[in-house]
Amino acid sequence: MASSIIIPWIFYIQILAISSKAIAAVPAIIVFGDSSIDSGNNNYLPTLAKCNFEPYGRDFPGGTPTGRFCNGRLPPDFVSEGFGLKPIIPAYLDPTFSISDFATGVCFGSSGSGYDNSTAAILKVFPLWKQVEFFKDYQTKLRAYLGDEKANEVISEALYIISVGTNDFLINYYNFPQRRAQFTIPKYEDFLIGNAEDFIRKIYSLGARKLSLTGLPPMGCLPLQRTLNLKIPHSCSEERNIVALKFNEKLKVSVVKLTIELPGLEVLYTDVYELLSQLITQPSQYGFEVAETACCGTGLFETGILCNRLTPYTCLDADKYVFWDAFHPSERANKIMSDEMLPSLKLAFL
Ligand SMILES: *[C@@H]1O[C@H](CO)[C@@H](O)[C@H](O)[C@H]1NC(C)=O
Repeated sequence: MASSIIIPWIFYIQILAISSKAIAAVPAIIVFGDSSIDSGNNNYLPTLAKCNFEPYGRDFPGGTPTGRFCNGRLPPDFVSEGFGLKPIIPAYLDPTFSISDFATGVCFGSSGSGYDNSTAAILKVFPLWKQVEFFKDYQTKLRAYLGDEKANEVISEALYIISVGTNDFLINYYNFPQRRAQFTIPKYEDFLIGNAEDFIRKIYSLGARKLSLTGLPPMGCLPLQRTLNLKIPHSCSEERNIVALKFNEKLKVSVVKLTIELPGLEVLYTDVYELLSQLITQPSQYGFEVAETACCGTGLFETGILCNRLTPYTCLDADKYVFWDAFHPSERANKIMSDEMLPSLKLAFL
């Protein structure tokens, strides 16, 4: 009789120990990068790289155009929810949120940004070094809010999501002569990788330990790049895709190098190239009807200010589209990719 009472109690205590560890294991999600993750910081900047107007956000809770380049939520929102935290990651500059919200998740990202300072300068957005300044400011507020010990624990146990790099090629390198005159593509990749490493060393020195580093997507298959593909109209630009793959190979080498160099650093490389390629090449397997053009407008080129309330032809059901606008996946594509990322993220960091 006695054992039938004791055993359940021990069992119960073990479950409590496991679940309280699981909750404390990742107390916050902290996000750096570009429009793939920006939840609205650019709303507070005089830049063209913003989208805080309809039809953006039409499938977000409340139909709010938050400044996310999407009809709904972004991968960090889904990852946060998947880790048992908030269902949305607030933008650090949004005055409707405060340190009590940011203590469990915050986004410093800025649409239009890149690993290259000169990329953010084109659209007058926050470069990575400025995002790091916000992170320092955040730490001061977090220490005042939680006390040093608890704040340090949040900073070292948080999951850091870093997603950036596409704009260095698609906004900067291919559009403006300056970087092309200075660097060949392989040399520019090396320059960006060096900047990525410096950025990671910087946030490591500020306490970050658990990183999810997102590679480049299949850039050549973004609807706008298909439209601009003069060789084979409406096909993916193979050239751009090869650049993304080569960059990603170099990034993976960096990840190994940095984890050796920086004790206690754990970096999970997130292969968004593979995840998004699956949706683009086999859309019907995931319940999508359209993968080549986007929902907003003609789907050929509209993004940002060109995708607005008056833009004609916008689709009625974005769930049928892999892409919401000509540069960014739809909410459902983001959800599917996040669901595929979550098991390895949890295995690595919970
Ligand atoms: C980017 O700009 C910041 C601030 O001016 C500077 O500290 C940093 O070294 C620059 N990065 C590169 C790679 O030039």
